[in-house]
Amino acid sequence: MVRISLRHFTTRSMLRSSYNPIKRKTLADISDLYENGKPIAMVTSHDFITSKMVEHAKIDINLIGDSLANTTLGYQDTNELTLDEFLYHVKSVQRGNSHSFLVADLPFGSFEKSLEQASETCIKLVQQGNIQAIKIEGGQSENLPVIKKIISMGIPVMGHVGLTPQRHNELGGYKLQGKTLESCLKIYNECLNLEKIGVFAIVLECIPNKLSQLITEKLSIPTIGIGAGPYTSGQVLVVSDLLGMKDCHQAKFVKKYQDFFKSGVEGLSQYKEEVESGQFPELDSHGYKMKKDLYDELKKII
Ligand code: KIV
Repeated sequence: MVRISLRHFTTRSMLRSSYNPIKRKTLADISDLYENGKPIAMVTSHDFITSKMVEHAKIDINLIGDSLANTTLGYQDTNELTLDEFLYHVKSVQRGNSHSFLVADLPFGSFEKSLEQASETCIKLVQQGNIQAIKIEGGQSENLPVIKKIISMGIPVMGHVGLTPQRHNELGGYKLQGKTLESCLKIYNECLNLEKIGVFAIVLECIPNKLSQLITEKLSIPTIGIGAGPYTSGQVLVVSDLLGMKDCHQAKFVKKYQDFFKSGVEGLSQYKEEVESGQFPELDSHGYKMKKDLYDELKKII
């Protein structure tokens, strides 16, 4: 039976008994799911409200992804997001979810300059954002020392290969990766490198089903797919995509489970109509009564 490598952290029993007053899922719980062959459900949420929904749905891993840049904040791409803006959202997600294992992205520009910069960013995210693990895009050789450093600080790291949106300029857009032998081998070797240095899981984004199957079979750590087919150890989607919160083009791999945007616009339009027609608010259902003698006395004065 394959096992998640916990060698960089502490023993499984220590992880379980560690001080965890809000009973959040831990790395050991994620490891248990994997070892027992149970698919891992991960969702990216961006604020208190969406993470509250993730908490109530008992999602295993709540990622605070830098995708919040384009999905929630209206930026063109994730690279426009600053660490301070990101941290504000990390704190908000953390306040909303006391169930899921919390993983935060390392945003573009917050780790590339030096190992010191990367460790300072991680310290901020752990101390101020209370997150339990970091996700970092890319398994190329330049990233490996950074990942090693973060793991040496006792912070579990999740890798992310395939389509890595922070490198969309280099990749020529948001496209399927792994279309050539060279590209498949690059992705595969990045996964091997990442596993070797001790990441606890790897996100596989937008790669062919068969490639993610081969990688998942080869690795002894969970793979979490997005646009990578059904053969991974788990799946991740962005909350605003899966709940249909946006009125825009969706990637092929997104499944829309709700249409929040449509029902939101319908609700707002009905509210507007009712305000204009005087139907809302209703006297008794939405208003507060005043005692008659208080009213009479007040009326006399004013
Ligand atoms: O930022 C994000 O939401 C992500 C997931 C799509 C994996 O990186």
